[in-house]
This record gives sequence, structure tokens and C-alpha cells, in this order.
Amino acid sequence: MTTPTYRAGRTYRVGIVGCGAISRNHLEAFTAIPEARVVAVCDVDAARAQETAERWGIEHAYDSAAELLSSGVDIVSVCTPHPTHEQVVLAAAAAGVHVLCEKPIAVDLASAERMTAACDEAGVRLGVLFQRRFWPAAQRLRAAIEDGTLGRPILGHASVLLHRDPGYYSAWRGTWASDGGGVLMSQAIHHIDLLQWLMGEAVEVHGHIGTFRHSIEVEDTAAAVIRFASGAMATISATTAASTNLGETVRITGETGATAELTEFPEGTDGRITLWAAGGSIDSEPVHPEGLEPNVDLSAINGQLIPHHTSQVRDFVAALTEGREPAITGRDATAALRIVLAVYESSRTGQPVRLEGLLANQK
Ligand SMILES: NC(=O)c1ccc[n+]([C@@H]2O[C@H](COP(=O)([O-])OP(=O)(O)OC[C@H]3O[C@@H](n4cnc5c(N)ncnc54)[C@H](O)[C@@H]3O)[C@@H](O)[C@H]2O)c1
Repeated sequence: MTTPTYRAGRTYRVGIVGCGAISRNHLEAFTAIPEARVVAVCDVDAARAQETAERWGIEHAYDSAAELLSSGVDIVSVCTPHPTHEQVVLAAAAAGVHVLCEKPIAVDLASAERMTAACDEAGVRLGVLFQRRFWPAAQRLRAAIEDGTLGRPILGHASVLLHRDPGYYSAWRGTWASDGGGVLMSQAIHHIDLLQWLMGEAVEVHGHIGTFRHSIEVEDTAAAVIRFASGAMATISATTAASTNLGETVRITGETGATAELTEFPEGTDGRITLWAAGGSIDSEPVHPEGLEPNVDLSAINGQLIPHHTSQVRDFVAALTEGREPAITGRDATAALRIVLAVYESSRTGQPVRLEGLLANQK
């Protein structure tokens, strides 16, 4: 397969695979970008694909990714349940189509490795959605590490205290086979990605999972300790069993003694930063005054994520034009998945898990 080459000024033909809840974010994002045009959608539920095409004025609706991929698209967005990401990404690579895949990249490491290898071999770009990295506050926290305000991170924490109605765990959600995990795989993986983006390579994980308030196979609650190659450490606590949404926090202390915290409350609103700098100064972005109702429904939460999906989609399209890697690659997403899977493995064995041994153990 020869690598597709692109020139500035061309319009990328985009296909969306999976027309469920998050597809709206991809449709809105690509629609906002002049260099891209969504020309096809597909869903195994043909009526849903047809209805989406009609609502968005899209020419083609298919009921299989194979048909969509052979229709001449340049980019495909993968918005399907977790274990199905691999089959779509491998088919896209085989068709020479660039891929932007929803998180998590996959539900096991061998699958994630096959996906990144197939895209590398085909010469197509693979990006994975972790749109919270595009919050201005997250960029500011990263800059505070790099400009020496925090310096090298020494301690981190990710707290994910969410409510999900029992009805959320229907269709494919809540089983190991069709979801691949619970609060870690679906929700906290965003904050785990932020931790490893801010703190560097993780080397060891010790953790526990449990299922306390939902009637599901996978975990509704988890706690873990991560050690990083730098010697830094972080803790994670995550649940979807809270009776009200208490939001999400990522907090980093640096070697200067300064601490910065990203807070997402209510869920779905832009993260905001509080920085406790050396010398005792405090700099805190205000709470969004319009956003204080904690228990908004999931479609409203997804809707609030659109600006950041748009930023990541814009970066992905620019990466194609500029011939560079996208901001968040398949390998970055595999690093976050590796931490989630290490918590599962550690909880099963009761032992700390070294991350470099994990893929070998999984085979
Ligand atoms: N980035 C975020 O913040 C965010 C938020 C929500 C969901 N997501 C992710 O988006 C993905 C989809 O989640 P959702 O909430 O939209 O799920 P959903 O159940 O609402 O939609 C999934 C759709 O995919 C279709 N589908 C299933 N298998 C298919 C296949 N092989 N080919 C084509 N269509 C197929 C289903 O019929 C359904 O319409 C998941 O990976 C999820 O974790 C990401």
C-alpha cells in the first residue's frame, strides 16, 4: 500500500462508522472544518444510518463499514462499541483510509498492537479521541510543567466521582465481552490519559476493582497506584456508583512544590485550572456559572464535549495535510489502555504489575 499524499486546499471525504450517541460530536466537528466533508455514514442498524444521513444531508448511508470504506472516503471516524474498533480500523488500514477512533483504542493490548501495526504498514494515520487534552486548562497545566512553574511532576491524582443510572448499563455496556471494562475503561481512561500525558511513561500499577451498586459484570469502582519511569507516583479513584455526579479532578504536584489541579464539574463542562504556585500564590479559573446542575443527561454531557472533539478533529486533518503524526496517536492511546488493563490484572492477582510485561502475559 502506498501512503496517500495530500495537498493543502483539498477537501477530505469523511465517513462515520456507528451512528449512536457520540457520532453527533464527529458530525459536528467535521462539519465545522472547511477542509473536510462527511460524505457517508454507516451503522449495523441500517435505519439508524439512513435517518442520520437524512438529518445531516449526507449522500450515502450503508449498513456495513466494508461498503463505506470501498466508497472512496479518505478519513473514517470509528464510533462503535469498544471490541468492534479493531475490525473497523484493520479494514480501514487495508483500504488505505486514515482513521480517527473513539476511545478506548481497544479492550486488549494484542488488539491495540494489531491496529497500530496495520496502520503503520498501510501508511495511514491513526488518531484516538482523548479530547480533554484539548481543554485550554489542560494545555495550560502542561505548559506549567514545561515552563518550570511545576517542573518535573512528583505526585499526581485522578478522581472520577460519577453517577450513572442503571439504564446506562444496557445494550453493549456493562459486560466484559461487549464493553471490555467499566468505569476505568469507559470514563477514567480519559483522566488516566491526562496523567500519563502530564507525568510521562508509567512503569508499574497496583490496584483493585469492585462492583458495588450496579448489576453489571464489570467494575463500577476502582482504586490504584501508578509508578512512573521518572520515579513519580499517582493515585486513581474512580466510580460510577456515586448517587450524584461530583465531577472529575486531575491534580499534579511538581518538583518546585507548586500544584495544579484540573476540575471538570459538572461532568462535560470544560476543565478549569487552579494553580497553587511556589510562594503561596493561588490562581483559580472561575466555576462556570451556567453549569451548576450536576446531573444533566448524557446527551447534554456529550454535546458539551463538541468544541474539544472539534479541536482534536482539526488537529487530525492538519496532521494529514502537514504529513505529521496527529496529537494523540494509537500508541498514546495504547499507553492509557495498558494502565487500565494493569489495574484489572493487579486486582486479579493481588500483585503490582510491571507494564512492560503486560502484553506478553496477555497473549
Ligand atoms: N470521547 C468521549 O468523550 C466519548 C463519549 C461517549 C462515547 N465515546 C465512545 O464512543 C464509542 C461509541 O459510544 P456511543 O456512546 O456512541 O455508543 P452507542 O451505543 O450510542 O452507538 C454505537 C453505534 O454503533 C453501531 N454499531 C455497532 N457495531 C457496529 C459495526 N460493527 N459497524 C457499524 N456500526 C456499528 C450501533 O448500532 C450503534 O448505533 C465508544 O467507543 C465510546 O467509548 C466517547
